[in-house]
Amino acid sequence: MTGYSASLPNVAVVGLGKIGLTLAAVFANHRYNVFGADINPDVAASVNQGISHIQNEPGLDRLVLTAHKNNTLSATTNTAEATAQAEIIVVIVPVLTDEQNQVDYQLIDRAVAEIAKGIKKDAMVIFETTLPPGDTENRFGKKIEEISGLRPGRDFDLAYSPERVYSNQIIHDLGHYPKVVGGINEKSLKSAAAFYKNALGCKLIEVSSLVTAEFSKVAECVYRDVNIALANELAMFAEDKGVSMAEVISASNSQPYSNIHSPGIGVGGHCIPIYPYFFINKGLSTGLTPLSREINDSMADYAIGKIEKQIGSLKNKNTLILGLSYRGNVKEPTKSTTLVLIDRMLEKGANPFVNDPLFSDREIKQHGAAPLSLYDDNCSKIDAVILQSFHEEYNEIDFSQFTNCQLVLDGRNKLNSQEISRLGITYESIGNQGRQCP
Ligand SMILES: NC(=O)c1ccc[n+]([C@@H]2O[C@H](COP(=O)([O-])OP(=O)(O)OC[C@H]3O[C@@H](n4cnc5c(N)ncnc54)[C@H](O)[C@@H]3O)[C@@H](O)[C@H]2O)c1
Repeated sequence: MTGYSASLPNVAVVGLGKIGLTLAAVFANHRYNVFGADINPDVAASVNQGISHIQNEPGLDRLVLTAHKNNTLSATTNTAEATAQAEIIVVIVPVLTDEQNQVDYQLIDRAVAEIAKGIKKDAMVIFETTLPPGDTENRFGKKIEEISGLRPGRDFDLAYSPERVYSNQIIHDLGHYPKVVGGINEKSLKSAAAFYKNALGCKLIEVSSLVTAEFSKVAECVYRDVNIALANELAMFAEDKGVSMAEVISASNSQPYSNIHSPGIGVGGHCIPIYPYFFINKGLSTGLTPLSREINDSMADYAIGKIEKQIGSLKNKNTLILGLSYRGNVKEPTKSTTLVLIDRMLEKGANPFVNDPLFSDREIKQHGAAPLSLYDDNCSKIDAVILQSFHEEYNEIDFSQFTNCQLVLDGRNKLNSQEISRLGITYESIGNQGRQCP
């Protein structure tokens, strides 16, 4: 491992993904020596060359390079070794759910076992990964104690601080969103709060327990999922009644207490479709939380139904899905609605094509669809276009090349409906049945 300044405090960041690398680079530019750890050797190698492997994160390339030049950021695949050099250990390895929506701890359990091998007495471990409430203490604190013999709260500080940033603006958000912090005891809480104040310079919200901090992050995600589900439900009802939901939202939201969210073709990514299950699996198994998951997960099928209603059977039809990413301008296919759309198209005998400027043709093929450039002559053979994620490049699409296209289904209510309709192509969005948006 390279890079070390003896006068600076040492931090290990475990998991150098989109969030972990950004945190590591910010800490390393704020008077900390950072030892990053990631199981992916390519990630460690690029960080050790001063190169960020994350795309589309404004400011990150520069921070990684500067820290590399200043010898304050290095990386390894050996988590125990990184941990052994640190007084502060930040864990940001994902917890996902499996096909049955059960929590999948494989990655983080492995990370925690390595941390337990390296941790020194009097160190502080802070979990930032979104977790089912209770896990910091009951699962991971206990596991570290079992392996290291060090007791949390006595031999090392244990804290939880959820990461709440938004991709594409992570560096900005780290300095501007208040950091929620909980500790296993007062000393852990104060140590973690002092660390974030120094390292990020942001406002702090100190809460009374680890579980409160964990709960607050999952609650944020449930709030968003439920509100999106409400918007989707209202959008489907509006279509049924022949009303434009876009027009309704702009009228309704002129009242200060109304904040109807945007309806859409589906909810994807690491967070919103996953974290509600952290409550659902722990007893919140009836009511709005599971119902919202159902509504949001049904939107892809609803969209397919709209297409079939317009153009008939999808058998042998060429369909183009715009955006493999779960949302615009972010390279992230986890739980993307496009994956569901591809499966459904294949089941129905259609030929799904996918365009996404952030992914290579090889990456698109890995997800079971044929890549199609927007400059390819085969655009003229497409029967229906579906916008799933709105990348900024899609502002410039020339729909006149889709000479055989019968329908554009705008799953994000972002395209120019007048322009598309002017070309004789039917335009529909979620919440607008064959009507042009105002
Ligand atoms: N991505 C977001 O927009 C976002 C927003 C808010 C919060 N979060 C939180 O941040 C967490 C991480 O998200 P991300 O986007 O950085 O994920 P990511 O998939 O980009 O990165 C995860 C990294 O962890 C590494 N890793 C996996 N197992 C490991 C192990 N055992 N030891 C060391 N490294 C390991 C992977 O190789 C990868 O580089 C999420 O699970 C979530 O809790 C993410």
